[in-house]
Amino acid sequence: MAAELPGASGFRFRRLAKPEEFRAAEELQTLGPAGASDSPAPVSLMRAAQDHGGVVLGAFTDIYLAGVSVGFLGFDGSSLYHYVQRFVVRPEYQNHGLGFRLALAVRDEVRKQGLESLRGTVDPLESRAGFLLFHRLGATAERYLTHYYGQQGAAEAPDRETDRLEWRWPFAVPAVEQHLAAPRSPAPPADPRFASAPRLLETEAGDSGLRLPTAVAEPSTPAAQVEVPFDIDLVRQHEPSGARRWRHAVRDAFRAAFDLGYSVAGFEVLEVEHERRSAYLLTAPSTTAPAA
Ligand SMILES: CC(C)(COP(=O)(O)OP(=O)(O)OC[C@H]1O[C@@H](n2cnc3c(N)ncnc32)[C@H](O)[C@@H]1OP(=O)(O)O)[C@@H](O)C(=O)NCCC(=O)NCCS
Repeated sequence: MAAELPGASGFRFRRLAKPEEFRAAEELQTLGPAGASDSPAPVSLMRAAQDHGGVVLGAFTDIYLAGVSVGFLGFDGSSLYHYVQRFVVRPEYQNHGLGFRLALAVRDEVRKQGLESLRGTVDPLESRAGFLLFHRLGATAERYLTHYYGQQGAAEAPDRETDRLEWRWPFAVPAVEQHLAAPRSPAPPADPRFASAPRLLETEAGDSGLRLPTAVAEPSTPAAQVEVPFDIDLVRQHEPSGARRWRHAVRDAFRAAFDLGYSVAGFEVLEVEHERRSAYLLTAPSTTAPAA
């Protein structure tokens, strides 16, 4: 296993080519906490996607595969786009900007095919993925998919419900271009829109001391927040019934908001009294820029 993390420039991004690279990609997708991810794309499917309009792109340090994006050509009846089925960074490489750089590399690769957007789905309870998509990349979402893959995992698993947010990341939209061009250092101030956005979920500390939802409201203001746990794996581990409560409360909040035409326009992690609290920003139809 790689002992040291290379700096940002130490990674090379390229399409997977050899059978052993696809095997490494399949294995990589099984890492991380159980119940926290989708089933791995098998070697045969990745190989076929790579040769027939898809993109299976790896982040390599030397020959070691540190991250992979697996996707195929998508068509919704009117537009073509690249659909990301799996996007995973090896746990020991997470939080060092690799996911961000891999997303940009996928964007550059699919642009060579003449495509101008990525789409995919994400578990709304996965705070880090939400941050990467909606805070760092400027993606948007306006569809909530309940039980998208049906129930998965063992009957006793804390959270078997496979709800997903469908996200879109159009490249050539001014809002996204400005978002990516904004300086990251020093860290930008918190999105001011959060200050005037009421929380749709009320929460309080449960038996384990972890924050759990207690009530859900419909949005009625131009902007609103949907809180999610900063670390859902901790909740799954220490308060399994709490993970289910989060799942249902977040589902109710998103479904109510999307039914009213709101869409996801941001994501923040705010430090409140020494506690990190994650939240999506939702904006009402009239305040949202049109998506490509
Ligand atoms: C989502 C994933 C790909 C991100 O990879 P990564 O290499 O850690 O991504 P990055 O480091 O570029 O970005 C993660 C950001 O989240 C922040 N972050 C870390 N933990 C967080 C948390 N619990 N909540 C919110 N943000 C968090 C990091 O600080 C970083 O932001 P920064 O660059 O501004 O500091 C990786 O966590 C993963 O493989 N997850 C499992 C599969 C998955 O959920 N895939 C996403 C499907 S769309």
